[in-house]
Order: sequence, then C-alpha cells, then structure tokens
Amino acid sequence: EITTRLVGSEMCIRDSVIAGNWKMNKTNAEAVEMLTELKGLVKDVEGVKIVIGAPFTALSDAVKAVEGSNVEIAAENVYPKSSGAYTGEVSPTMLKAIGVKYVILGHSERREYFKESNEFINEKVKAVLAAGMTPILCVGEKLEDREAGRTAEVNETQVREGLKDITAEEAKNIIIAYEPVWAIGTGKTATPEMAQETHKEIREVLKSMFGTVADEMVIQYGGSMKPENAAELLAQADIDGGLIGGASLEAASFAKIVLAAK
Ligand code: 13P
Repeated sequence: EITTRLVGSEMCIRDSVIAGNWKMNKTNAEAVEMLTELKGLVKDVEGVKIVIGAPFTALSDAVKAVEGSNVEIAAENVYPKSSGAYTGEVSPTMLKAIGVKYVILGHSERREYFKESNEFINEKVKAVLAAGMTPILCVGEKLEDREAGRTAEVNETQVREGLKDITAEEAKNIIIAYEPVWAIGTGKTATPEMAQETHKEIREVLKSMFGTVADEMVIQYGGSMKPENAAELLAQADIDGGLIGGASLEAASFAKIVLAAK
C-alpha cells in the first residue's frame, strides 16, 4: 500500500520505513522488554512503518510481543533454501511461519566477516520474496572506495548483482538500505547532502532496472543515524527511512527517530 508524505515541499509517494538492526545483541527477555516499551511509545504513529530486526533466538517472542501493534519484526539473515541438510541454518519458511515480515540481507558485516558475495545475497533476496517476506538489501561503499571516487560504481554493482533477475513487480516489495561502511558504528554520519547524492544515484540505477517502479521503492539510510541527526537526513528527497544499529537498542532513542520520520 502506497501512502503519500510531505518531504520538504514535495509530496512523496513512498512510505517511510524506520527499521532497527539489533545485530548480535539482546537475550529473549531483553528483546521483549524493549519491544513492550517501544510499542507504547509509538502507538499513535501513523504513516511510518516501524520494524525491529532481532537475532534468531529472540524472533518468536519478539513477534508475540508486538502482536496487535504497529511494530513489525525482521530477521537479520536467512539461508536461501526452504529446508534440508544445512546444519545450523534457518530457512525463509521457518521465519515466515513465526510471523517475521522482513529480512535484512547483505549487511556489510555479513559481506565482510562471513564473506557473502553478491551472488549469494541475490539467492537470498529471491528466497525471501518467494516466501512472501520483504528483503531489506543493504549496500554501501567502504572508505577506500569513497576516497578513490568509486562510490557510485560500488553501489551500482551491489544493487545490480543483488537484484539480478528480479522483476519490476517483485521490486515493489524490496527495500534498499544504503549504509556507507565508514559510517557504521563509527559516529561518523554522511552529511544529508552526501547521503542524498548517493541515494539519488541508487534510484537512477533502480530506474534503469525497473522503470517507474523505482519511484515507489524505499531507500533507507544507515550509519550512525540517531535522534539528533535523523530529521535532517529523513528530510532529503530520496531518503525514505533509516536502518539503525546502536540507536535502536533502546526504546526511547529508537522511538525518537520514528517520530522524526513523521
Ligand atoms: P549504527 O547505527 O550503529 O551505525 O549501525 C548501522 C547499521 O549497520 C544498521 O544496519
């Protein structure tokens, strides 16, 4: 469902999606406690999709904790097969069955520490779509890429290869998270202008792949987004939400970012 919102002085056809990425944080009990508090803080928010990405162990209770509220739950990873002899892995079917709605894919930490390739991430995107959930595909350049003037090229490759063989119809249900690697967990945020420039470049790539559907696709910004800088970033024409690490761990700070997106 597409809603319109005001960005600066322009009406925008995209939803705003504010998602937390807890990474490897929170026990089950801690997850439920945070979500219970968050639900109360954001209960009157309309026109913003609110998502929390939790570790596998907390997902089932997390989904139950937000039942009947405007908060939805994401997984942070998945294996791209529906079942079988893949010891230690979790399938899209399993996530879907417990009520997970989104899956974060291709995070730079997974690309770096677990050597995930664009090809493998592409398999995951397809598997998540096939299971009826929304992929949040993360892309982003490293500092050395930006300094060498390769930002646009690196992001284009990650978008094109991550979304290989995806149709325009399928693309409507895909979220892109632009996360410059040098801004993740470092306290260094891209300036709103710098982020907007890259978001625009990414949307141009999406246009060349999916035509006008690109105008409906949500592109989130991630990398040291916090209550103090969220409004400015979210006011940019092509920034349609955020993927938030550190500042999503506490209900109060995450709720402030949600309110900044309204
Ligand atoms: P930080 O908000 O902690 O910089 O993390 C961003 C991120 O990686 C979200 O996926």
